[in-house]
Parts: sequence; C-alpha cells; structure tokens
Amino acid sequence: MARSAILNVMVQAAMKAGRSLARDFGEVQNLQVSLKGPGDYVSQADKRSEEIVFSELKRARPDYSFLMEETGAVEGSDGQHRWLVDPLDGTTNFLHGIPMFAVSIALERQGQIVAGVIFNPAMDELYTAERGGGAFLNDRRLRVAGRTKLVDAVIGTGVPHLGRGDHGNYLLQLRNVMGEVSGVRRLGAAALDLAYVAAGRFDGFWEDGLHPWDTGAGIVLIREAGGFVTDLDGGQNVIESKALVAGNEAIQRALLKTLKKPV
Ligand code: IPD
Repeated sequence: MARSAILNVMVQAAMKAGRSLARDFGEVQNLQVSLKGPGDYVSQADKRSEEIVFSELKRARPDYSFLMEETGAVEGSDGQHRWLVDPLDGTTNFLHGIPMFAVSIALERQGQIVAGVIFNPAMDELYTAERGGGAFLNDRRLRVAGRTKLVDAVIGTGVPHLGRGDHGNYLLQLRNVMGEVSGVRRLGAAALDLAYVAAGRFDGFWEDGLHPWDTGAGIVLIREAGGFVTDLDGGQNVIESKALVAGNEAIQRALLKTLKKPV
C-alpha cells in the first residue's frame, strides 16, 4: 500500500501522539481508582497529544490552517488547506480506563476532506484514507459491510448525556431504530464509530452534536470504503450540520428514514 507524502506526515503525527497517549493511559489506570481521580492528568495528556500533532503537522506544512479540539482555530497563510485535529477522541473512556480512544486527523482542501487518519493506540489500529486511494486498517483494504436490511444490522450511535444534546429527540430516534435492528452499540469515541463503519464492523451509525474534529477523518474513511455519509436531512453539509448518518447505500438510506419516522 503506497501512501502519499502528506498521508505519511499525518500517520507519523497520529502515531507519535498516540504513543504519548498510550503512556499516559497506563498512569490513568492507576489514578483512576484514587479518590482525587485522574481528571487533571487527563487534560494534560490531551494537551500533550495536541501539541505533538500540531508541531508535526506545522513542521511539514507551515502555512496550513488548523481547527483543533483544545486550541480551536489557528489561521495559516495558505487559504486552501485546513487540518481538523482531535488529539483525544473518547476522553471519557480514557478518563475511566476504558481502552477505546483515538487520535483523529483530517485534511481539508478547499472545503473538501481529502485525507484522514485515525489511530487507536490501545489496540494498535491505524485507519488511513485518501480521496481516490481507498481506505485501510493497518495494511488491509477496507470495505463497508454488505448487509442491506436493518433487521440484520448493528448500528452505532452517540448518546447525549448530562449537559449535552437534545435528550427528548434522541429518545425518539432511538425508539425508532431499536425496534428495527439486530443491535445498537455506543463505543464512546465518534472517530472510532466511523472507522468501525468503514471496516464493516458496524453496518451504520448516527449521532447529533458532533464537531468537525470528531468526524473529518471518519467521513473520508467511510466514503473511500464505499459507504455513504449525510446529515440528518440527507444533505452533504455533514461537517457544518454536526449531525451525521452513515452506512452502506441501503443501510444509510433506511437509517435516515427510520430516524425520521413519525411517532
Ligand atoms: C466525544 C466522543 C463521543 C461522542 C461525543 C464527542 P471527545 O468526543 O466522540 O463518542 O458521543 O459527541 O464529543 O470529547 O471524547 O473528543
């Protein structure tokens, strides 16, 4: 599998940051059981990871802009390119010692996502995709799942919680979906949810309230694995709308319809 120079830069950045997270995760598992808990330590781990990604990408492409979960926007002189960076997706999992977290990096060119990398260091799983070049898990080419009926499908989702999201609307969506599928899963790391759709582990996924750094890399992975991603209205404005529905062509369409079924 040949990677372009820019994808290599993204992979190096994600793996270096991921190794730093993996070291910190070992410590979190100890702190987790203490009374004070690992909260402050986790924010430091998150910041360390973001600093690593930022410095690696900045060194390779000094003029590109950034949108990062912790620091926010950093404008570069190049008006065409922007990095979308989540240095620690699945922060709550990380905090609780659950090994389901990732570094996610996407590259946007003129508003289109053209490359994405998601790295889960706890499982040593590296997902990569470039527009027109396919999607990969480590060196294995990815295809979305082939199941075409909701009745056979396992669907991932993100569940709103204290202080987050529209709980009432989510319960209506979940009620519609849970009655039609063979299973519903909540991993707690949206980048990995999307990677799981690309890898055919999940047949579909939906969540409302996501940010560009959560979804950028996953969107290109799913599309390059032959899947479909839209907003909740079936439109292409996925990054801006914050809501996302994904799957293969049949499951994505069926899931969209089910989510909107009148009660
Ligand atoms: C969160 C995770 C979670 C999703 C939330 C995200 P973070 O990202 O991806 O699965 O349900 O909407 O904010 O805060 O861990 O980077």
